[in-house]
Amino acid sequence: MMPSPNPSAPHADIQAGLEPLITITKDAMQATNTIIVARMQSEIDLIPTLAGHLIAAGGKRMRPMLTLAGALLAGANKEQMDNAARLAASVEFIHTATLLHDDVIDESDMRRGNKTASAIWGNEASVLVGDFLFARAFELMVETGEISVLGRLSAAAARITEGEIAQMLLAGNPGAARADYFRVIEAKTAELFAAAAETGAMVGGADKPLSDAMRDYGMALGIAFQITDDALDYAASSEDMGKAVGDDFKEGKITLPVILAWQDGDETERKFWQRCLQEGEIGDSDLKEALAILENHNAITRSLAEARQHAETAAALAETWSFSSNGTAEALVAAARFAAERTL
Ligand code: IPE
Ligand code: IPE
Ligand code: MG
Ligand code: MG
Repeated sequence: MMPSPNPSAPHADIQAGLEPLITITKDAMQATNTIIVARMQSEIDLIPTLAGHLIAAGGKRMRPMLTLAGALLAGANKEQMDNAARLAASVEFIHTATLLHDDVIDESDMRRGNKTASAIWGNEASVLVGDFLFARAFELMVETGEISVLGRLSAAAARITEGEIAQMLLAGNPGAARADYFRVIEAKTAELFAAAAETGAMVGGADKPLSDAMRDYGMALGIAFQITDDALDYAASSEDMGKAVGDDFKEGKITLPVILAWQDGDETERKFWQRCLQEGEIGDSDLKEALAILENHNAITRSLAEARQHAETAAALAETWSFSSNGTAEALVAAARFAAERTL
């Protein structure tokens, strides 16, 4: 029923910056994975088949690891760590659900080095299995018995959807303001990183200043993570990323590289962006042309530099925790930098 994990999946080969986080969360992540596999089951075979296709392909598991690290940082006891594992599984289910929905909306064909679920089973099945995983996520939150955590993650789930809708409304408008872009990525991506880290600290028994700081850490890391994702969408190889290159361009998405190139662009270049992103008239050589324009304005390099700034904001927060954390703070510093240095 469940496809076995594919060791050749691109995400199996994680870059060094994530290793410390993987190491400190190893045992708790094993418990989390057991919960994930158990709770994606259903009598309706299509559910574990479709969900298992995506889940078995791996993924970096960054959000659940941040939840577990939040609990470790708070000095969680055994019982609190069990709760953190439930919560981590719940966070990964929310993430998985948003990926299923996102690939339908973005009409993407490739994810984690495989065909997307929507390309195999269709949009309807993907949307419905995404809904199932959302519902399972909320069951798991309830099982933690922590109403404050349920409230926090419910708010995050609403905000993620707001972000995806705001992005949809922004699409096709290459002259959009930076502030609009940041509003989108804070909501659709950074909010889940923030809530994952914060609620991990909460179930671990952290005081309010620490759980607030974990939230701020996750928010800054998440912003870095999405800016990097948007740069990679133009500049990476699909083998590394496990996703198709140029999806954002094809979809008329307004991301930071485009905003920077538009601001610096001349009349001809702006007409090019309008034709491709606004009117959706994209020819075979246009992605190459887009890359050349971005290159001309150093737009990828400048986007990645901005991502690094946000990563450093997160790293600086984590550095203040380093005195007594048994390596957790150091792992969080490295994970923050990974968000802006990753190629996958
Ligand atoms: C992909 O997230 C969606 C974005 C927010 C860019 P990840 O890059 O964390 O996806 P997986 O789970 O590792 O595949
Ligand atoms: C992902 O944004 C955000 C969510 C899944 C909510 P993207 O559309 O950039 O993510 P990828 O590139 O498909 O992973
Ligand atoms: Mg997408
Ligand atoms: Mg993307």
